[in-house]
Amino acid sequence: MDRYAVIGNPIAHSKSPQIHTAFARQTGQQLRYEALLAPLDGFADTVARFRAEGGRGLNVTVPFKLEAFALADRHTARAQAAGAVNTLAFGADGILGDNTDGAGLVRDLEANLGCALGGRHILLLGAGGATRGVLLPLLAGRPASLTIANRSVGKAEALAALFAAHADGSALAACGFDALAGRRFDLVINATSASLADELPPLPPGLYTAGALAYDMMYGRGHTRFMQAALADGAARVADGLGMLVEQAAESFALWRGVRPDSAPVLAALRRQLDAG
Ligand code: ATR
Repeated sequence: MDRYAVIGNPIAHSKSPQIHTAFARQTGQQLRYEALLAPLDGFADTVARFRAEGGRGLNVTVPFKLEAFALADRHTARAQAAGAVNTLAFGADGILGDNTDGAGLVRDLEANLGCALGGRHILLLGAGGATRGVLLPLLAGRPASLTIANRSVGKAEALAALFAAHADGSALAACGFDALAGRRFDLVINATSASLADELPPLPPGLYTAGALAYDMMYGRGHTRFMQAALADGAARVADGLGMLVEQAAESFALWRGVRPDSAPVLAALRRQLDAG
């Protein structure tokens, strides 16, 4: 049976085995998908062992996405732009590195949430790896503007400069949180890691246009703190990142197997599980 895995540290709580096993059952693909714990100083060795044992591909999660980028022999354009890899495919001609996070986010926004990006004003909060990973697919949706806001303004400015050539008619800009006062957006995406410390980015009030969507890349039981704050500030709709998790997995599955699974029932089952605690 073809073997795949998600590799990370820690890894025990990853939902990827459940998601990919459901995709395989649904599409009739014969494969086994497991969770692989790599020592913090042993990523490349663990990958090499898995490959030598017949592994066909890996999903890569924290903290190894940069090492996975370095390990790949070839990269897709979106992995190149992200500077990080969340999907490895082993072939006779070497290791292909892809990054499906941004495509997963865009698919969740457009297909699942009915939020078309074209012509919209988008605010992206944060300027770390999560933001860099989604910039190319977001810009490909041709928004009217995409503003990157970050606590350390220099990091946001560096990302805006790095992606300027991909803006393709979208107004791409960077600023600090204070500079958002008086501005409104149709879509606000939280790509900061603030919620890991149970914090919120310090946003000025009145950020949302009528009908605006607030999207948190994090997820959990019920609304995240960011979603609660967004609703209080007038966002019409909120969503968490569970859909992005399932959609990035679907993109990886399609890359490996050449078959696109139906994400809807898998997302619904995960949501029921999460809500049941
Ligand atoms: P990731 O790969 O998850 O993006 P990262 O590269 O460490 O992680 O980036 C974390 C992002 O969250 C950064 O943009 C960080 O802001 P700084 O660049 O100013 O450090 C942002 N962040 C983390 N904690 C935050 C907080 N409490 N408020 C606002 N932004 C925060």
